[in-house]
Amino acid sequence: MSLISASRRAVKAVSQKGIRSLSSGAEVLAGSGTYQGLTDEDRIFTNLYGEQDWRLKDALKRGDYHMTKEIMCMGPDWIVQEIKDSGLRGRGGAGFPSGLKWSFMPKETDGRPSFLVVNADESEPGTCKDREIMRKDPHKLVEGCLLAGYAMRARAAYIYIRGEYFNEAVVLDEAIHEAYDAGLIGKNACGSGYDFDIFLHRGAGAYICGEETALIESLEGRQGKPRLKPPFPAGVGVFGCPSTVTNVETVAVSPTILRRGASWFSSFGNENNRGTKLFGISGHVKNPCVVEESMSIPLQELIEKHCGGMRNGWDSLQACIPGGSSVPVLNKAHCDEAIMEFDDLRSRGSGLGTAAVTMFDNTVDMVGAIRRLSHFYKHESCGQCTPCREGTSWLEDVLIRMEKGDADKREIPMLEEISRQIEGQTICALGDAAAWPVQGLLRHFKKDIEDRIDDPSSFDAEAAFQKSWSGDPFDNAEWTKEHGGGLTYAS
Ligand SMILES: Cc1cc2nc3c(=O)[nH]c(=O)nc-3n(C[C@H](O)[C@H](O)[C@H](O)COP(=O)(O)O)c2cc1C
Ligand code: SF4
Repeated sequence: MSLISASRRAVKAVSQKGIRSLSSGAEVLAGSGTYQGLTDEDRIFTNLYGEQDWRLKDALKRGDYHMTKEIMCMGPDWIVQEIKDSGLRGRGGAGFPSGLKWSFMPKETDGRPSFLVVNADESEPGTCKDREIMRKDPHKLVEGCLLAGYAMRARAAYIYIRGEYFNEAVVLDEAIHEAYDAGLIGKNACGSGYDFDIFLHRGAGAYICGEETALIESLEGRQGKPRLKPPFPAGVGVFGCPSTVTNVETVAVSPTILRRGASWFSSFGNENNRGTKLFGISGHVKNPCVVEESMSIPLQELIEKHCGGMRNGWDSLQACIPGGSSVPVLNKAHCDEAIMEFDDLRSRGSGLGTAAVTMFDNTVDMVGAIRRLSHFYKHESCGQCTPCREGTSWLEDVLIRMEKGDADKREIPMLEEISRQIEGQTICALGDAAAWPVQGLLRHFKKDIEDRIDDPSSFDAEAAFQKSWSGDPFDNAEWTKEHGGGLTYAS
């Protein structure tokens, strides 16, 4: 039977039975569309902490590849519509609606094959969520590649993984081979009649290669330098063919959405901010972790519930970067009220970004912290655009002096002006990513800069320098014992 007629028959069968017939687990109650806290049965990544084996045998027990063929039989358009209805927004940082993005891929071929490109570069400072998927639950990504790739009518998927993720690449490579051996991908993937390959490509460790067009350049064997758009990748992408570049988490959540239904996924979070989400929390919390939670959870609740709170209590909080180093920092007043979603954080002048939450307590010298980030962006600029190449150096140079108080107050608006001359003036968003942390600093911590200039002797480089772990014993043993030391799922 041809795939098309199989699809039509399946569509009829499933629409007669209702979409819940694809659900593998317990019936999921639709929520009211606000944050309600996430129970274990509503978690997509049920092996995030590696309590079970990542290999296929255990992945099948966790429900991966359940009815994959039947989902494919529903047809690419059904999959794209379901992803649209789920409200899934890209998890790579920009939050673009995923179903809409997938729908940009051509439905008819002009002779060129189409490709899915999975962005596993994960180089944004503070971000470490995709890593957990790839090393603990890699079959979620492999199955996601097949379903997302099929929805885009792609011939194959290229997974571009950052070079430093050596162990993750080994695990993922093994998972891909297991899926080939079991007939889940490759020729006649899952018995669907569709041929689909997955290629794993290791990068060499440049942050800019996470930008989608730089990633494509690198995949093609050139230096990772962003391309001007248009043409967009959906028209001319990797090897000159229609392509969609999308994040690991975006792809890995799609099979569960398709199995459990768009309405299940969209029952979490507020309007326009739907679903469950991986948050990677680091900094001055008792128990740094990566955790899956409902979108729109209040920041304070996220920290108290999963990290045991700030190491010296909530009142010691000074600032938070809620979405990876490129989004502007928030002060405590905002943190008290902030909700972890695209819209609320945007209204506060920051963003959800990659949901990499970095918490800073009052021991941190915020000028020094943002100065350090400016060094990162200067180092990672590819150098194609003058505002980014020159401006990132200027930002760092001025901040180095401001940190020591060796500056004039007139330079504060000048620093702002430099950041505005970079923002929006460059080929890719690395320019914005360099400008925004500085703008956040000036918005909330301008007084710290002024005080430092007034009294340079108040700067104590030794006290402000945040060292790595001292080797002292951890003081959160009681909390970790109570909460399972990061292992929250009952096996
Ligand atoms: C400098 C820079 C670095 C980026 N790094 C990553 C990255 O490591 N991983 C990622 O998924 N997206 C990254 N992005 C965003 C990608 O360009 C792209 O928007 C994303 O992969 C789209 O996936 P999504 O639609 O699933 O969100 C980066 C963007 C820029 C400008
Ligand atoms: S903004 Fe910076 S990183 Fe991006 S293309 Fe221009 S110079 Fe390169």
